[in-house]
Amino acid sequence: MKNFILDVDTGVDDAFALLFAARHPEINLLGVTCVDGNTNLKQVVINTLKVLDAAEAGDIPVGVGATRPLIDEPRYAEYVHGADGLGDLNYPESTRTVDPRPAVELIRDLVEGSKDPVTLIPLAPLTNIALFLRSFPETAKKLERIVLMGGSASQGNATASAEFNIWHDPEAAAIVFQSGIPITMYGLDVFGDLKMDNSFAKRLHEKSHAPSTFGAKLIDAMLARHKEEITLGDYGAVAVALYPELSTQETMKVMVDTTFGPNRGATICDHRPIEYQELGYTKSWLEQNLTVQVCKTIKVDELRELWMDTLSRS
Ligand code: RIB
Ligand code: CA
Repeated sequence: MKNFILDVDTGVDDAFALLFAARHPEINLLGVTCVDGNTNLKQVVINTLKVLDAAEAGDIPVGVGATRPLIDEPRYAEYVHGADGLGDLNYPESTRTVDPRPAVELIRDLVEGSKDPVTLIPLAPLTNIALFLRSFPETAKKLERIVLMGGSASQGNATASAEFNIWHDPEAAAIVFQSGIPITMYGLDVFGDLKMDNSFAKRLHEKSHAPSTFGAKLIDAMLARHKEEITLGDYGAVAVALYPELSTQETMKVMVDTTFGPNRGATICDHRPIEYQELGYTKSWLEQNLTVQVCKTIKVDELRELWMDTLSRS
């Protein structure tokens, strides 16, 4: 069993990830925390509770986190996920209640309360994670790893150079990448590879049980909206946290551009030979030894079938 905490801005691909994390038998989902991102925080919480219902999840604590980025104004992504952030499926609101603790305190208590290592899996802007690192640094050092969906060693999606989760809160991302905690970056270099089409939705509809039907309806809604294949997105970060062998990774130094220019929110991934990096231009970087495991490839067929099988489990 692996102990996971997910930080989400539930949108559709966060939902794909939550469905998996709540249902896979090797995952002990200790808790979920919500942050402003794809849509506003209130809607993220509503969506997250709905997804846990659809997953037929047990009593998993859900913490409410930051209402907006540290510096920038919120900038939402309804154009991707629908007006409600969850494909506009209009599922009934959940009767679940959120945990009374703020997200950062819930994360602290879950890590301190676990006798086994905990992996923190942010699938959203890193505002909650930065606030947790600044609030409880001694607890943060106990984390086994942070496996985050975010960044890119190639090009952006929110802008030409920046990936949405980093772009939404660059200062928070910079705090996380400079924390010294072991990090795996599941970025845009692999994010789009887990493509879903009608054939997968059809298979899930045939299972005719709540989690499969919900997953199928989300795929249907996104295909109707985007008229092309869609991606399981955030789910891949959870799967790679569980089975790192299903991806290849490269050790790189990663710096976040927090300037207010055209590359704001870009992740600058330095994979030049070490002798070039030591030329002094990035010496402080080297001294901090801020290396990150950046996902370069993933085993697409295995990961897609892993998701399908996990949703279909009775
Ligand atoms: O860039 C993709 C990321 O931004 C995903 O986590 C998606 O859910 C949005 O949060
Ligand atoms: Ca997300």
